[in-house]
Amino acid sequence: MSNKNRRTVIAGNWKMNKTPAEAVALIKDIRAEIDGKDTSGCEVVACVPFVDLAVVLDACKGSAIKVGAENVHWEKNGAYTGEISADMLKEIGVEYVIIGHSERRQYFGETDETVNLRVKAALAAGLKVILCVGELLAQREQGITAEVVALQTKVALQGVSADELKNVIIAYEPVWAIGTGRTATSEQADEVCGVIRAVVAGLYSDAAAEALTIQYGGSMNAKNAAELLAMPNVDGGLIGGASLKAPDFAVIINAAQ
Ligand code: 13P
Repeated sequence: MSNKNRRTVIAGNWKMNKTPAEAVALIKDIRAEIDGKDTSGCEVVACVPFVDLAVVLDACKGSAIKVGAENVHWEKNGAYTGEISADMLKEIGVEYVIIGHSERRQYFGETDETVNLRVKAALAAGLKVILCVGELLAQREQGITAEVVALQTKVALQGVSADELKNVIIAYEPVWAIGTGRTATSEQADEVCGVIRAVVAGLYSDAAAEALTIQYGGSMNAKNAAELLAMPNVDGGLIGGASLKAPDFAVIINAAQ
């Protein structure tokens, strides 16, 4: 399949980095790299900690950078100490939210079922979802990557309509490649993104699968981005460490043009 008709999306996932003041400084640095340049070849998103959202939204005004959160709760409101609802994000102008990141699954007990609840709540509130899936190293070594990723994708999308799917991006993030400097080869990334696309074709339609943006994430950086992004099934990147360095993030954005 060709990726010519799909939206390419380069998203930074800042994780638990940058205080509000540091966040504004990083957005300024990114803007110094990309403002005035043609970035029409891809959408640029910064997914930042909750407390940074308001100042980052302000700092991104007049730029090509869209803003996302890193998680969202599934209930509309209520006694959920420490949680943030989709309506709260929407009201302040947040456009995207990452759901199901492997760090949430690994350290905070998130399951495919709670990922599904979060996806549905975010879409119902009008947010765009970056849904993360990916296998552990042991699962890759057992040869069950395709099954694991297919199951995660199917459960996460349960009850999501074909119309709502237009607001979903899937990020394939092999857990063994996250923050390790060990990137999937472009062939491995393309293969699993292709598996995800085939699963979506089975759940919805060939047309829906063809239109779906599927990112790769896991040690994507200024050096390897062009090769990964050139693969037919890779439509963008979800970038951790390299998104915290403005010049590197700009190189990745350029590679996506
Ligand atoms: P790194 O780019 O730091 O490996 O992180 C990837 C990631 O988890 C993005 O969500």
